[in-house]
Amino acid sequence: MSGTAKPTITVTIDGTNKSMQLPLLTGTLGPPVADIRKLNGELGIFTFDPGYGMTASCDSKITFIDGDEGVLLYRGYPIEQLAEKSDFIEVSYLLLNGNLPNAAELDGFEKGVMRHTMLHEQLRRFYDGFRRDAHPMAIMCAVVGAMAAFYHDNLDINDPEQRRIAAFRLIAKVPTIAAWAYKYSIGQPFMYPRNDLKYAENFLYMMNAVPAEPWVSNPILSRAMDRILVLHADHEQNASTSTVRLAGSTGANPFACIAAGIAALWGPAHGGANEAVLKMLAEIGTPKNIPQFISEVKDKNSHTKLMGFGHRVYKNFDPRATIMKETCHEVLAELGIKDEPLLDMAMEMERIALSDPYFIERKLYPNVDFYSGIILKAMGIPTSMFTVLFAVARTVGWVSQWKEMVEDPGQRIGRPRQIYTGAAKRDYTTIGGR
Ligand code: CMC
Repeated sequence: MSGTAKPTITVTIDGTNKSMQLPLLTGTLGPPVADIRKLNGELGIFTFDPGYGMTASCDSKITFIDGDEGVLLYRGYPIEQLAEKSDFIEVSYLLLNGNLPNAAELDGFEKGVMRHTMLHEQLRRFYDGFRRDAHPMAIMCAVVGAMAAFYHDNLDINDPEQRRIAAFRLIAKVPTIAAWAYKYSIGQPFMYPRNDLKYAENFLYMMNAVPAEPWVSNPILSRAMDRILVLHADHEQNASTSTVRLAGSTGANPFACIAAGIAALWGPAHGGANEAVLKMLAEIGTPKNIPQFISEVKDKNSHTKLMGFGHRVYKNFDPRATIMKETCHEVLAELGIKDEPLLDMAMEMERIALSDPYFIERKLYPNVDFYSGIILKAMGIPTSMFTVLFAVARTVGWVSQWKEMVEDPGQRIGRPRQIYTGAAKRDYTTIGGR
């Protein structure tokens, strides 16, 4: 390519002769990105980007989103194909390792993950320290963070083998931690994992089985749960993933980093949205109240949001929401639920919102959480567990992103800057003089 000028953009500070050329970097897909790393050194200025909506914080080979076209790719494979043809364990292998496994690799990976599903027996005692009404996300943050105290043999982040086992332990144990948080809240005995079951099926088993009766697996529900896990497995540099990377950039151990990710996911603007959607639908109560609710949403003074709508990146449609809507109908049909008022309300809400100029102009579409809550509710999963489920699924994404970051030789500690708007330098006065 000799002789081809590399594209740049020129930045000039008005009224001065200061100017520089910023290289434009390109990835495999997606728009070019201005490389501002030398901006401060050469021009003495920083960039301002609250919420980092315009800033690429890293380069990554894992997940690609085209928000205008509604495209989501894991390692290049469209989410629609993975949701239809693959399963969560295969997708986990793909995210972690970069390519689809052959039969022997898949078998080895599945066995490797499943043999780590049990928790250290002493971790079990942690649960007794929580109130019965503790939010399961609080338990998730605490127990996942506490894993660092149990797996000292996995804390050297510079050892690839320790990283590999830590990844297995995290992916394998989060369903057990999550299911036990639920069992604790309802006062039922903890169910130990069954490694003869598939990953999603084992999770449903630990949530729903009791020692007093045989448990019967429902393949349609296991498949639906597996699909929910696949759809939530990764989503490039969202708030919780960026939190995991930021924590990891300091050299913190993987258990601490994933606990940080769980904390970030908890908020209603992120993983907490599926729980918030159901609360919102319950508060609206009946379809006849929807127009009034929509007017409230449009009133800026009300601070009410239509939960499950809008996305920082998707400005056309969220491809996960489309698959989730189909799965929702399948699950309700399987369970013989013909009239689900919440689903009727959700569909009416979607219809009204998608024809309203407020939502059209702002490119606000249903996101993955709009329908996932309804499926989970139909499957008998309590609302407080919705975000937990998201955390179970996203753990593999977080671990893959963390691993990629640790293995990147150019990795540096994450350290954003600020525009300082506080008081200028001033002298301390003693209390009598104030
Ligand atoms: N209801 C009403 N108005 C909205 C909504 C909504 N759900 N989302 C965005 N807007 C408005 C917003 O007020 C702003 O209006 P204006 O231009 O008049 O000031 C405009 O749309 C642009 O929104 P924004 O706040 O700049 O968008 P953002 O990229 O900062 O926020 C979001 C993205 C997901 C936080 C936001 O859309 C939201 O709070 N949605 C509801 C919560 C939700 O469903 N979250 C789940 C996201 S998907 C799961 C995940 O990946 O975590």
